[in-house]
Amino acid sequence: MKSKARGLDGGLTDYGDKEFARFLRRSFARSTGLTSRSLDRPVVGICHTESGFNPCHRHFGDMVEAVARGVTAAGGLPVPFPVISLGEAFLHPTSMVYRNLMAMAVEEMIRAQPMDSVVLLGGCDKTVPALLMGAASADKPAALVVAGPMMTGRHRGERLGACTDCRRFWARYRAGRIEREEIEQVEGRLAVTTGTCAVMGTASSMALVAETLGFVLSGTAAIPAVHADRLRAAEETGALAVSMATEGGPTPSTLITPRSVDNAFQVLLAVSGSTNAVIHLAAIAGRAGIDFDPGRFNDLARATPVTVDLKPVGEGYMEDFHAAGGLDGVLRGIADGLEGGCIDITGRMLSTRLEDPLADPIDHRVIRKADDPVDHQGGLVILHGSLAPDGALLKRAAATPRLLESEGRAVVFSSLEDLATRIDSPDLDVRADDVLVLQNAGPASPSGMPEAGYLPIPRKLAAEGVTDMVRISDARMSGTAFGTIVLHVVPESHLGGPLALVKSGDRIRLSVSSGTIDLLVSNDELERRRRAWRKPGVAHPRGYRSLHSASVLPWTKGCDLDFLRPVSAGSGEHVGRRPATDGDSP
Ligand code: FES
Repeated sequence: MKSKARGLDGGLTDYGDKEFARFLRRSFARSTGLTSRSLDRPVVGICHTESGFNPCHRHFGDMVEAVARGVTAAGGLPVPFPVISLGEAFLHPTSMVYRNLMAMAVEEMIRAQPMDSVVLLGGCDKTVPALLMGAASADKPAALVVAGPMMTGRHRGERLGACTDCRRFWARYRAGRIEREEIEQVEGRLAVTTGTCAVMGTASSMALVAETLGFVLSGTAAIPAVHADRLRAAEETGALAVSMATEGGPTPSTLITPRSVDNAFQVLLAVSGSTNAVIHLAAIAGRAGIDFDPGRFNDLARATPVTVDLKPVGEGYMEDFHAAGGLDGVLRGIADGLEGGCIDITGRMLSTRLEDPLADPIDHRVIRKADDPVDHQGGLVILHGSLAPDGALLKRAAATPRLLESEGRAVVFSSLEDLATRIDSPDLDVRADDVLVLQNAGPASPSGMPEAGYLPIPRKLAAEGVTDMVRISDARMSGTAFGTIVLHVVPESHLGGPLALVKSGDRIRLSVSSGTIDLLVSNDELERRRRAWRKPGVAHPRGYRSLHSASVLPWTKGCDLDFLRPVSAGSGEHVGRRPATDGDSP
């Protein structure tokens, strides 16, 4: 059998003459000043996401250089290449819509360009999921270096970290408890260095998920962005990528397995991680043909203690977490439930990592032991019921305990625009024990599942001191937000799920102890409303947005696009294709 072409000889451009294609490629490569000796080395692609619109990645120039240094020192040829970058606060309507576009770019550029392995550089919320989704589908040996968290700022004696404290101060400002001058001061003190948000939000959660899956060098996911160790980790990863290139692995398909995905969910639960990370991990697993199982997730949630006390739920910040022992501390705390046979990019098994005699001691004030947890069960729970037949997600750990078993009157907003128009109206008929409901904010809706699930407390209630209410939607919530917030309701309202049928004044019951969320309206009445419901028209008639709204899957399938899921060997169909009747196609 002919051996596969490697290095720059891989995947030659089609001119109908392979030798000419090779000659032309080498000629252009030499135009960069490389000698022919360099061209014969294993090629390590460095897939980076630096962008002026992504301040969290503004140190990636140094990081790319460090990875390249490691590659060169180990005898490889580093070839950096850019892909789409997604800066969380700089995208309309929401970065979530573009995660799959980025994943497509990553997959195709890894596959189309000649590289034997790839080092992925990401960090801001959607970038790590997109990189791993694309890499999983391309399935070339891949390692990840994350941006690392930013450092905290200071304001009047308090530590500040984006973005939990952004929301905390904004809520105070909305309630009239601080003045405009102070909120402007805070604006300049929330994000004071490069790196990802300083709390256990989506970016930090995904960095830990990626390390648990094995894509990140052990002990490096939480190193602060500005720490010299971050550059050392980048250099080491570059060197490792050369051996991954020559050995042909480990590949993403050997790292992403049902057992490593279970481990990653357990870590996410133990750190009380972001609700968004559940979607992203389901998407990454889905690319490897592993379906998300809500029942399994709830079993893991019941069995996994929360051992980390960080904002947005607790007290500390990511720099404290890293100093306290980082992911090692979490893994050791929940070791009994983990599958030790999973490997990482170095080929080392998790069980070997857990027994490392040279590992740093853990500061148990920040990362607790399993027998002295912050909470005896995981911070996230999937609910079902007549309002969410296919599931909804609640971050129990971020909720107000008395609201976890409650019933209230629905106050419905039919869209984001309706919410913006009426939420602060003095005429809004709303009480503190009501349930705020937002419709048409799911993945297939024109808004593309924004982080709008954290509905603001109506101004008149906030001014009375109300800080939390039950809020329900098919939207997402920032990983840095908090409150009694039921998210990701499936089926979504834009596609005619029961959420679309809720009217103001209906009663809704939430019972986290029984795992239910129910709309207390008779079946006959719901059937009458269902017959009267009309599917909204096509919001995006062309381009990527039309592709997205017609093909996006529910969060239980990671909000991936149906045609990007793996093709089933038996039927030749994409696993989990969205039924044609659900589509937005004209
Ligand atoms: Fe980039 Fe939070 S905005 S990680």
